Amino acid sequence: MVIEDFKEAIRLIKQSNFTVALTGAGVSVESGLPDFRSSDGIWNKYDITKYAYLANFYEDPKRIWDFVRELYSSYSDAKPNSGHVALAEIEKMGYLKCVVTQNIDNLHQKAGSKCVLEFHGNTTHLKCLKCGKKYTKEEKNPFKFDVPKCDCGNPLKPDFIFFGEGIDEDVLNKSFELARKSELFLIIGTSAEVQPASMLPIVAKESGAKLIDINLKPSLITLNGHSDIFLKGKFTEVMNRILMELKGE
Ligand code: APR
Repeated sequence: MVIEDFKEAIRLIKQSNFTVALTGAGVSVESGLPDFRSSDGIWNKYDITKYAYLANFYEDPKRIWDFVRELYSSYSDAKPNSGHVALAEIEKMGYLKCVVTQNIDNLHQKAGSKCVLEFHGNTTHLKCLKCGKKYTKEEKNPFKFDVPKCDCGNPLKPDFIFFGEGIDEDVLNKSFELARKSELFLIIGTSAEVQPASMLPIVAKESGAKLIDINLKPSLITLNGHSDIFLKGKFTEVMNRILMELKGE
């Protein structure tokens, strides 16, 4: 990580009155969860065209639920890493307003982050695409049925977002409102390849925010020349260095 960039990043974080973070699967890799597009990512193990689209669910709900049960099992064993904890601490210190996460692993919440918007939904609920009714995982346990069913008789789907499915309107509006109000926007552990999440930093930039990309390698936001700073490194290492600097240690 370039020292001058790190010092400038700290200056921007201290100066900003409204900092927002967008996180992706890269922040949970050090918790033992694979991301999606790195060489050992989920889409290198599962064919994205067969598992990630809403149409796939309609085609074969059991195939999708088998995949989802594997995901959920990995999430239940995962613990927040020190980067998640540092991000929650930075929020507590008043340097971060909110995290908009593309992740559904609940690790930001487990680490103590108070403001977390789950842009791609969550693992805690199931939803009926026919009548819209929602159930908790306790009410319709996906480990008890091959395909959990709604009381109306139709298959229930996990309440996270598949490609071809709209983002929850309230979450979408709140996320873009945060982006528009932000003075500093952190892009952390995401390739920024997926819309509309990857539009958030662009909207922030258009509203006058500075952009800091924290990643092992440049995200699309940096590759397309939008980032003001690119801090190359592991999530836990960079976030802990930032936290220590903010604490004056
Ligand atoms: N520290 C920092 N960054 C990391 C680390 C790490 N330890 N490990 C991986 N990364 C980075 C990778 O370099 C990559 O840029 O995290 C990013 C992960 O990108 P993706 O795998 O594309 O995951 P994400 O951006 O969250 O994907 C967005 O795509 O399939 C959908 O719904 C799914 O929410 C997901 C969305």
